[in-house]
Amino acid sequence: MPVITSIDDLKRLHKRRTPKMFYDYCESGSWTEQTFRDNESDFDKIRLRQRIAVDMTNRTTASTLIGQDVTMPLALAPVGLTGMQRADGEIKAARAAEKFGVPFTLSTMSICSIEDVAEHTEKPFWFQLYVMRDEEYVDNIIERAKRAGCSALVLTLDLQILGQRHKDLKNGLTAPPKMTPPVIADLATKWRWGIEMLQTKRRSFGNIVGHAKGVDNMNSLSSWTAEQFDPRLDWDTVRKLKEKWGGKLILKGILDVEDAKMAAEVGADAIIVSNHGGRQLDGALSSIRMLPSIVRAVGDKVEIHLDSGIRSGQDMLKALAMGAKGVMIGRAYIHGLGAMGEEGVTKALEVIHRELDITMALCGRRDVNTFDRDMVLVPEDFEGRWA
Ligand SMILES: Cc1cc2nc3c(=O)[nH]c(=O)nc-3n(C[C@H](O)[C@H](O)[C@H](O)COP(=O)(O)O)c2cc1C
Repeated sequence: MPVITSIDDLKRLHKRRTPKMFYDYCESGSWTEQTFRDNESDFDKIRLRQRIAVDMTNRTTASTLIGQDVTMPLALAPVGLTGMQRADGEIKAARAAEKFGVPFTLSTMSICSIEDVAEHTEKPFWFQLYVMRDEEYVDNIIERAKRAGCSALVLTLDLQILGQRHKDLKNGLTAPPKMTPPVIADLATKWRWGIEMLQTKRRSFGNIVGHAKGVDNMNSLSSWTAEQFDPRLDWDTVRKLKEKWGGKLILKGILDVEDAKMAAEVGADAIIVSNHGGRQLDGALSSIRMLPSIVRAVGDKVEIHLDSGIRSGQDMLKALAMGAKGVMIGRAYIHGLGAMGEEGVTKALEVIHRELDITMALCGRRDVNTFDRDMVLVPEDFEGRWA
């Protein structure tokens, strides 16, 4: 059993144990990957204030996200094809999150279906929706999420057209992978992945195949996806979906003050300041850089979460200190899953939790709910002057 001390350790194992096609799918951004890189490097520009002689006993990271109790204010982000990183990946990640006491978000583009995850977990999870042209399909999946007891709908607003990720095109990404000679050669070194995959029935898009009209196999699915994401999605659609869902609504992919104001106006319970982990608009600013202006604009009207670039408890602390109520992690837990399955997701959560706990103590705080801007040192030009 390797000694895991950081998310980077899990990332190295993820790379070694997972087919290249799926590791690359996770570890890439769109086009030049500038935004993908900035998401992480902008966190490095923020420094922490060391405080001393403060009683560090009785520390707590417990908090709430959209009114739900959490062990720490972090949720697992929706990640498509998670069940290709490791067999039954969504079930494994959801179970790890449940045991740890943080929310898991299931992607529309998951391998395990809503019903699969509900059957293998006890607590409610969050469901992420991509809006499709097929209204019947959208109505139906909202009903399925309700029936499964999902406690929030996470509506993703920054992917109506797919940002191009070069590696996916070069690798010929499919789920399950097509058995070309390079794929077979790669799989020969990833035998553990292959054995587990042979033992599960869940190898294609569980929320779609068998549920959407005309999609009963993988060949028709890729073209269906390209045709079906609805490019007409607008704030009116958001309002209608809010009504249809009737429960807690989280709007994901907000990166602009004007959009944040609209999100607050339509009555979202929370927004996620996010650029989709640098996978959509390359050239957009990092989430952490956009956070302060969004907090200033709507911080008193709507709960603000942030994702994109979080790889440690220090990053998490910085986001909270800068005004986020909570964070989401994507790649950080996928590295854990690819490395060691459910145990790896737990490991990722433990690593981040320990880093958060120790860091807050060394910053002189005992309670995650008391974090504020005083804990961090931010360069004067951090937000930048953009015209
Ligand atoms: C491999 C991968 C697949 C993703 N799939 C989805 C998805 O299906 N739906 C969605 O809303 N976001 C998706 N995202 C974006 C994440 O929800 C999240 O915004 C992002 O991963 C945060 O950045 P981080 O990976 O740096 O933590 C995906 C991200 C990755 C890395």
